Amino acid sequence: MTYRTHHCGALRATDAGSRASLCGWVDSRRDHGGVIFIDLRDREGITQVVFRPEEHADVAASAHDLRSEDVIKISGKVAPRLAGTENARLATGGIEIVADEIEILNKAEPLPFPIDERIANEDLRLTYRYLDLRRPEMSGNLRLRHRVTKTIRDVMDAEGFLEIETPVLSKSTPEGARDFLVPSRLTPGSFYALPQAPQQYKQLLMVAGVEKYFQVARCFRDEDLRADRQPEFTQLDVEASFINQDDIIALVEKLMIAVFQEAKGVTLSAPFPRITHEEAMNRYGSDKPDTRFGVEIADLGDVFRASQFKVFRGALDSGGVVKAINAKGFAGITTGQIEELTGMAKLAGAKGLAFIKVENGEWKSPIVKFFSDAEKSALTERLGLEEGDLVLFGADTWETVCLTLGRVRLRVAEIQKLVKDPARLNFLWVVDFPLLGWSAEEQRWHAIHHPFTRPKAEDIPLLEAGEYGKVRSVAYDIVLNGVEIGGGSLRIHESDLQAKMFSVLGVSEETQKSMFGHMLNAFRFGAPPHGGIALGLDRLVMLIAGADSIRDVIAFPKNNRGVELMTGSPAEVDPKQLRELYVQVTKKT
Ligand code: AMO
Ligand code: AMP
Repeated sequence: MTYRTHHCGALRATDAGSRASLCGWVDSRRDHGGVIFIDLRDREGITQVVFRPEEHADVAASAHDLRSEDVIKISGKVAPRLAGTENARLATGGIEIVADEIEILNKAEPLPFPIDERIANEDLRLTYRYLDLRRPEMSGNLRLRHRVTKTIRDVMDAEGFLEIETPVLSKSTPEGARDFLVPSRLTPGSFYALPQAPQQYKQLLMVAGVEKYFQVARCFRDEDLRADRQPEFTQLDVEASFINQDDIIALVEKLMIAVFQEAKGVTLSAPFPRITHEEAMNRYGSDKPDTRFGVEIADLGDVFRASQFKVFRGALDSGGVVKAINAKGFAGITTGQIEELTGMAKLAGAKGLAFIKVENGEWKSPIVKFFSDAEKSALTERLGLEEGDLVLFGADTWETVCLTLGRVRLRVAEIQKLVKDPARLNFLWVVDFPLLGWSAEEQRWHAIHHPFTRPKAEDIPLLEAGEYGKVRSVAYDIVLNGVEIGGGSLRIHESDLQAKMFSVLGVSEETQKSMFGHMLNAFRFGAPPHGGIALGLDRLVMLIAGADSIRDVIAFPKNNRGVELMTGSPAEVDPKQLRELYVQVTKKT
């Protein structure tokens, strides 16, 4: 038996008069006084099928009993729809099939939710993911993801990159998250780590002379989940030898141009703007600035240097900063909203969130009584203050103020709906990240990107001198509309510099040998200068699809508790399996 002659999205008015067979799911059924209309759906679209009892009584009788999501095959003649009954919303809306045969391939029981609506309960959608994926929106996302990945592979191939798979059962690479571990049965007490990224392998491939590597690589990170994070996700992972930062940036821009053209029909123009990490923090309070709106952070240190307001003066005197944003036209902010923003600021580490509302020609604020006329006019000028504006201040250390106002800025933009054009695509490179950050909690330096990242040549003396906080790295992130879609760096390829980096990070020589001996060794045998980047494929597709959550572009994602509800994983296992692995569960929650 041939199942079908056409897909459900294929037939047009020009096919009228021919015979066709279609297969698919019953999307809907309407009974117009004995004449039955079915919308038949498959992956490619919907076709209306009509069953006329006066012509084919048996067939119409079978159609009468159809339910949503039954799987059927129908055959019949393609007929133009009567004038006035065409459906302009369907590609096949000019025709219908007058069925003279029907075969019920499989019946469907009543569904837990209708396919044609987006239901709010995501856990229910994830439990019946195979039904959720039938929805055109979701199947469109799967198709989009395929197109994006294919375009990426085509471009990388044309550029001379080889796709090489690296192990999933591997050794832990420090990318900043917790590892997922897999116990080894053959080596009791030993564990593989699932890769947080193929970082070490791809660098070792450079030592192996591969020169240009890429991989659509699955990565695993045990971290807190958010709308744009999954415990397992996919990177377009790239590494190349004898290249510099500009080469990597140019390659990624070429990729983005091809991907957006192919997948969205949008022509991007390169080069994308670049901003240093320091400037990004100063102006936007974020290392992934959303530049679709202004509300930039202004520095007011010079304005309040001699202020009577203790909070500002105190911050400046102790080496901190005073900065503010002007939320234009937001003087009407409610008390509840002020409280919400203040709560956010405190979560970001601030002690408060001073504000001024400019209303009816007056400055309404608990703090203006402390300001001199000179300070007021300097503030007006610096922030371009006008009637209706709202100023929000931060006074603390540079990091705290940037972080605080950065978050407040995003929330203000959300409340004020400052992103006017949803189709806007603001790409941005953030460059010159600091190499190291101080962890007050752990009282030690940590790598901002990862420990293989190269310090800038001109900053190596600072590294030698122990001025770790001032050393910049050759690391770069690509940001789209405030989402970090990729990050990479040039790497250290000298074993002595790598060992120095490990020692700054407090990795003992013993641990260096046991954890990273293979890297340090490899670098002794002729390692070429190299560097690379990884793009978060799920995030990229999410942004192209206009989806709110990364889960909408992953076929079988985990929910925000890390559970895959359809199959119910993670799950308990048979104690026998545990015994074979020499694993004992000591606590059940
Ligand atoms: P990084 O850790 O910045 O770099 O990761 C690269 C990109 O991967 C995406 N990403 C994620 N996407 C979904 N869920 C997650 N949990 C998640 N974590 C990261 C982000 C991010 O920009 N080895 C380096 C790259 C290199 O140096 O070449 C690395 O993995 O979009
Ligand atoms: P206070 O003098 O503590 O009553 O604070 C007066 C105003 O300044 C309140 O609106 C506080 O939220 C705000 N404020 C206090 N400390 C800071 C700070 N470090 N940065 C910004 N605003 C602050």
